[in-house]
Amino acid sequence: MDLEKVLSDRLAPAFAAVAGGPVDPVVRRSQHADFQSDAALALARRLDRSPRAIAAEVRDRAELADLCAAVEVSGPGFLNLTVADRALGDLVSALAVDPRLGVPVADEPETVVVDYSAPNVAKEMHVGHLRSTVIGDAAARLLEWLGHRVRRANHLGDWGTPFGMLIEHLVDRGEAEAAQELSMGDLDAFYTAARAKFDDDEAFRERSRLRVVALQGGDPATVRLWRLLVAQSESYFLTVYDLLDVTLSRADFRGESSYHDLLAPTVAELDRLGLLRRSDGADCVFPPGSVGRDGEPLPLIVRKSDGGYGYPATDLAALRHRTGTLGATRLLYVVGLPQRRHFEMVFASAGQAGWLAPPARAEHVGFGSILGPDGRMLRSRAGGAVKLVGLLTEAVQRATALARERNPELGEAEAAEVGRAVGIGAIKYADLSGDRHKDYVLDWERMLALDGNTAPYLQYAYSRIRSIFRRAGVAARPDAAVVPTEPAERALAIELLGFPAVVDEVAGSLEFHHLATYLHRLASAFSAFYERCPVLRSEGPVLRSRLALCEVTGRVLHQGLHLLGIRTPERL
Ligand code: ARG
Repeated sequence: MDLEKVLSDRLAPAFAAVAGGPVDPVVRRSQHADFQSDAALALARRLDRSPRAIAAEVRDRAELADLCAAVEVSGPGFLNLTVADRALGDLVSALAVDPRLGVPVADEPETVVVDYSAPNVAKEMHVGHLRSTVIGDAAARLLEWLGHRVRRANHLGDWGTPFGMLIEHLVDRGEAEAAQELSMGDLDAFYTAARAKFDDDEAFRERSRLRVVALQGGDPATVRLWRLLVAQSESYFLTVYDLLDVTLSRADFRGESSYHDLLAPTVAELDRLGLLRRSDGADCVFPPGSVGRDGEPLPLIVRKSDGGYGYPATDLAALRHRTGTLGATRLLYVVGLPQRRHFEMVFASAGQAGWLAPPARAEHVGFGSILGPDGRMLRSRAGGAVKLVGLLTEAVQRATALARERNPELGEAEAAEVGRAVGIGAIKYADLSGDRHKDYVLDWERMLALDGNTAPYLQYAYSRIRSIFRRAGVAARPDAAVVPTEPAERALAIELLGFPAVVDEVAGSLEFHHLATYLHRLASAFSAFYERCPVLRSEGPVLRSRLALCEVTGRVLHQGLHLLGIRTPERL
């Protein structure tokens, strides 16, 4: 059903006959015809023949009569393909009756672990966690839709030396008061107060040290206090996830502490395999491929000189668990780019240890920072980290105000719902519509604009489609034949048929901006169609065909946005 692929499959045998071996016909959208193949150009060099002659021979051999209205050789040796209206209509009609919109379920479903969000207990989630949560959730949604077994792993930072001071501060504050403060989301205040005491007060420092030892030793009273801290933070994070409308739930918390018992066996195995080397009193792996500026191999510290295990050891244990016990073959780590080196070293070490062997593979799904309007790291007015809830609440408030202004007929409840969908949608789309490796500037005006490459623009296109059906009091007939004839109808039909290819590409690259760009192109093609081709004022088969085009466009927009975690209200 994917048009590029259909054309490519038809051209391939003709190219193979001319070349005497398999050739990728490289079919792409084109300005000059619907599609273009430029494979003859590269082939010409290999066969030492004129590219135009090759293209002409392919044209004569290819069986395209039922699909194409015209196949022409152009320029230095391109093949220009114009799809026949009839064929285009049949393909879109088939899409309209397919609940999966042309996107097949994976032939070989895999177990995929998506490690994302991963905030730290008793610390405010920062905008980096926002990006991880938004991108990771899109990955989980997409891969699940394709039929993979997705395991969401929220690698909560819930272990380590800071817990000594956090627990002591909890004791000083009084459990009830501290719990109150934490459940309100005053995480940073709590952390900062603990830190200040730790820095200034020798006795407090000593108590904190003893607490860490007690925690690691499993002292029941200490463990109870630690659980309290973790539970309060988890509840708070869940309220953020709820506001952000992501699929993470309580069952997905896989804190660092949950790998505690796997640390010693993991490190023992590294030792058995002869991969450990002592360096400055610490046990380290020196994975291949990681060297410092001085050209010396870089150590991944798995056991510190004080005998404790840290972040790298936990990631090694978690990875070994994910492939070995969960049987995952694809491991995604949705974490900011500053941790790139860490993951390279973890993956290389795991490879050496045999915990990450084909078909299993790991990918660091890295991303850049969110910048403020001044082009620098986003900071609060006081200069600290921006509180995520504040940011999300502001998005929803702004979008609700805009919705009220634009559409005074919306009732109170509906305006609130639209405001949430648009505000949160705008935040997610701003994040997902740019190349994730790059930083981006948080710009309220731009991301909430109704025109441009924004969530509201796409949501608006969807609501317009729904309003056509509301106004007409009709539904599209699923069996209606789509017969595109006008250029704007043809352009829309061709965009619709491109959905499966984009989904397939993004499932591999996890570069969601390709899906976003596609949806924006689709919505633009829809607006052009809607301007030029009257729908409700047409009649008979034309009316039915156009209604079917509207319906299937609405479904692709809905599904595409749903994969990005963005809602599509019926009215804006
Ligand atoms: N908690 C870490 C942080 O805030 C992110 C953890 C990412 N996941 C992992 N498996 N290391 O930076």
